[in-house]
Amino acid sequence: MSNKQSTVIAPSLLSANFAHFGDDAKAVIAAGAQWLHFDVMDNHFVPNLSFGAMFCKALRNDGIQAPIDVHLMVDPVDRMIEDFAKAGATYITIHEESQGDTKQQLKRIRELGCKAGIAFNPDTPLGALPNYINDVDMVLIMSVHPGFGGQSFIPGALQKLRQARQIIDASDHSIRLEVDGGIKTDNIQAAAQAGADTFVAGSAVFNTENYTTTIAALLQQTQ
Ligand code: DX5
Ligand code: ZN
Repeated sequence: MSNKQSTVIAPSLLSANFAHFGDDAKAVIAAGAQWLHFDVMDNHFVPNLSFGAMFCKALRNDGIQAPIDVHLMVDPVDRMIEDFAKAGATYITIHEESQGDTKQQLKRIRELGCKAGIAFNPDTPLGALPNYINDVDMVLIMSVHPGFGGQSFIPGALQKLRQARQIIDASDHSIRLEVDGGIKTDNIQAAAQAGADTFVAGSAVFNTENYTTTIAALLQQTQ
């Protein structure tokens, strides 16, 4: 039986207007998004630089209570795990491809009181996932090569979602299955049918006039 969790739409703040970052974060939550997706890029693991833990802390200090879903595209990750836990992250997701002992890093995230996620790039097979299944609260399948918002969804991600769904369902744990990259109203249904329950949407939300209408349309397509 599918162990799918309740649907979550997580707008990626990478597509927010950085001149009014906090207001954009509040606006998407007010418009019906359940989480905020927080893309951390270091110009090394990926060819782009975004924002660090101080920005996460600033959102918390400004009264934002929604879950903050931190996606670490950095290498090494160890210090960032500590910093983001202190900064109020809810989920901290690390990449299977980054350096270090991934299992230990996942355990450390939980030790710090956060939920732990493991991410797989489009070219990384899921062979290692069963080794981490007892140490994760979320599996993230990348449906673009990480680094930039606004890219097109890679269709091969659907097969990986189905495979990840099987591995999750074979475990006895409540683990979310998140998809990230190129999610729009015209492909979110296919991702949901492939087993995803948690959907990152950056440009699809922030590049529209009415966030409420867009988030409702995305949610409706997952039913
Ligand atoms: C890509 C990031 C994504 C991205 C999503 O490296 O991890 O979260 O911002 O943006 P869209 O939805 O525009 O592809
Ligand atoms: Zn992301």
